[in-house]
Amino acid sequence: MTVLAGIDIGGTKCAVCLGLPSGAKGEEIRLIDRVAFPTIGGPDAVLARLTEELERLLAKHGFTAPAAVGVSCGGPLDSRRGLTLSPPNLPGWDEIDVLKPFRQRFGAPAALQNDANACALAEWRWGAGRGAANVVFLTFGTGMGAGLILNGRLYTGTNDMAGEIGHVRLEPDGPVGYGKAGSFEGYCSGAGIAQLAREAAAERLIRGEAVAFCPREQDLASVTAQAVAEAAHAGDELAREIYRFVGRQLGRGLAILVDLLNPERIVIGSIYARQRELLEPAMAEALAGEGLSLSRSACRIVPAELNERVGDYASLSVAEEARKAKL
Ligand code: BGC
Ligand code: NA
Repeated sequence: MTVLAGIDIGGTKCAVCLGLPSGAKGEEIRLIDRVAFPTIGGPDAVLARLTEELERLLAKHGFTAPAAVGVSCGGPLDSRRGLTLSPPNLPGWDEIDVLKPFRQRFGAPAALQNDANACALAEWRWGAGRGAANVVFLTFGTGMGAGLILNGRLYTGTNDMAGEIGHVRLEPDGPVGYGKAGSFEGYCSGAGIAQLAREAAAERLIRGEAVAFCPREQDLASVTAQAVAEAAHAGDELAREIYRFVGRQLGRGLAILVDLLNPERIVIGSIYARQRELLEPAMAEALAGEGLSLSRSACRIVPAELNERVGDYASLSVAEEARKAKL
């Protein structure tokens, strides 16, 4: 039996999964098993752990080697040479060959794809992008990146840099994301939301006011987007305002995409999929205020459908490509 291996290298966590190919009719890939672990240590440690976990998973299911390995990873990267090129959310991954360990260990074809691009492929084939020819996928997790399906094909740009929307500046100054203050990733990412929340909390704590998601000054450093979301759901007004503000910035980013690409659907993953009620009203208002009405009315903004599985389907899609192309 043929088994595919998917490897997802993220700024926060890594995952290894096994799946069965999607078949002639393009049915969903069948996920067999997965393991995940936090991204700790440099590239050598992480790649060694990934290779070991894959070996263990294969053995557990009675396989010795996969038919192909697909690696999905935050950019910038060089998909042709299989190299990461200093991705902002993977410090120290400078010109790292992320395919070599798998090719060496398993002698299998292997391919590398930008995570947002791979997720766009997966959501387009099996999720919220089904049936549309022009689909934008936005990660909105640890980082903000876009995958672009244009005229029924993945568009990767001249050198894999298409969709690096997280680097686009929305404000002259603001939280830092992608190494740039006021960037789309600075607002619309887990770390971006945490930065905004920390600033707002610090101001109030100095004035002696109570902050639901950060009771004491020494808790500032450990404020997370998730903790702020929980406070917002519990009715905390400051937390709700932070998510409204992020929603507005998301809407402004969407206006750029809608005006530039005129897509039929924009699928948003991770934080948007989980916290849609907190973000959506402000997002829609900002988009209505800034995007061209003809483009807006042609485009639906929807949460990712594959949810936690999107990363696995994404990396397995890349493995399928590697297998077909015998890379
Ligand atoms: C990276 C993108 C990536 C996104 C999501 C950004 O910081 O530059 O390539 O798609 O994060 O991981
Ligand atoms: Na991309």
